[in-house]
Amino acid sequence: SHNIRLAVIPGDGIGREVVAEGLKVLDAVGLKLETTTYDLGAARYHATGETLPDETLAELRGFDAILLGAVGDPSVPPGVLERDLLLRLRFELDHYVNLRPVKLFPGVEAPIAAARPEDIDMIVVREGTEGPYAGAGGVMRRGTPHEIATQESLNTAFGVERVVRFAFEKAAARPRKKLTLVHKTNVLTYAGDLWSRVVERVSAEYPEVTTDYCHVDAASMFFVTQPQRFDVVVTDNLFGDILTDLGAAIAGGIGLAASGNVNPARPGSESWAPSMFEPVHGSAPDIAGQGKADPTATILSVAMLLDHLGLAGQAARVEQAVAEDLIGRQTVWASRSTREIGDDITARVAG
Ligand code: NAD
Ligand code: IPM
Ligand code: MN
Repeated sequence: SHNIRLAVIPGDGIGREVVAEGLKVLDAVGLKLETTTYDLGAARYHATGETLPDETLAELRGFDAILLGAVGDPSVPPGVLERDLLLRLRFELDHYVNLRPVKLFPGVEAPIAAARPEDIDMIVVREGTEGPYAGAGGVMRRGTPHEIATQESLNTAFGVERVVRFAFEKAAARPRKKLTLVHKTNVLTYAGDLWSRVVERVSAEYPEVTTDYCHVDAASMFFVTQPQRFDVVVTDNLFGDILTDLGAAIAGGIGLAASGNVNPARPGSESWAPSMFEPVHGSAPDIAGQGKADPTATILSVAMLLDHLGLAGQAARVEQAVAEDLIGRQTVWASRSTREIGDDITARVAG
């Protein structure tokens, strides 16, 4: 088999710290691996004004996958790195599936005292290229008392159908075979209507999958009170962003939540581009540089990356090592440093 060519974007804040641990674990898996690191993020922006140069984007297309830490820094105006670097990567590489498992591992102390691991085991399929993230809208009379800011949500039949189909495929492959659409059809009537009709139409092709609907406000409540209601959740980009931080919280904390920005096209096909794996959390400026960040979310993202590349056995090894490490933790915010957690999980992977 050929070398795995991996692009690495550590980014900002704790992104750099957690990616170092993710790479350590990946090395321990023992694959033929070739990594190239890109210094994109706040430092690069301050030094050169660049966020994501076109040549770099073109280069990134040539990798098998991308591992990203986090981007965003208090010294950079909000949105510059988030939109022009992170979202640009998701949009340009057509990561229309943002895959975010919400899973309570045995031994992890969850905020819902009664929750057992079998109660919290879902996967959120967050749309990744449209919705309010598309950037449509604008501002008039800025800075005046009459300022008008609009921020529109873009929803296309093509974009909704492809992510909904992916979600049905996922649901059909899971034991419970349940798919819940989460939206706000009672208020966002145009977009909600499109999402509902698409789910309804595609559901006819998956008779074995039970389909369900939940408004996003009620879904937020049920995530906390009845998480066992959910198996596969398919939702809009912004709802999915918010719900998956909540999902992280109910599953033991943001330091454990992994994600994949997936381009599901067949390798070699025209629409294929590398998928990008990253923790759900951000650059955490409040704890950056102190060795306090939990690298587990990044390590689980590495497992998702391996799985995406067809290396299911290696992915399972990494996930198993994490599961064993988690059983040994007394609390989520245990006193080990970022590096110590990375070393311990690496040792388990190495065997
Ligand atoms: P955040 O996720 O960075 O931090 C929220 C809270 O969670 C903080 O108290 C932080 O210390 C804690 N936390 C986060 N990750 C942790 C970890 N691995 N271990 C222990 N504690 C952890 O969210 P924020 O503070 O809202 O955003 C900070 C910056 O990150 C912003 O610039 C934002 O735009 C950016 N951001 C980037 C991404 C990304 O790159 N995918 C995601 C979210 C936020
Ligand atoms: C995430 C982050 C990003 C998002 C930001 C940083 C653009 O919050 O990955 O969840 O909103 O998607
Ligand atoms: Mn988020």
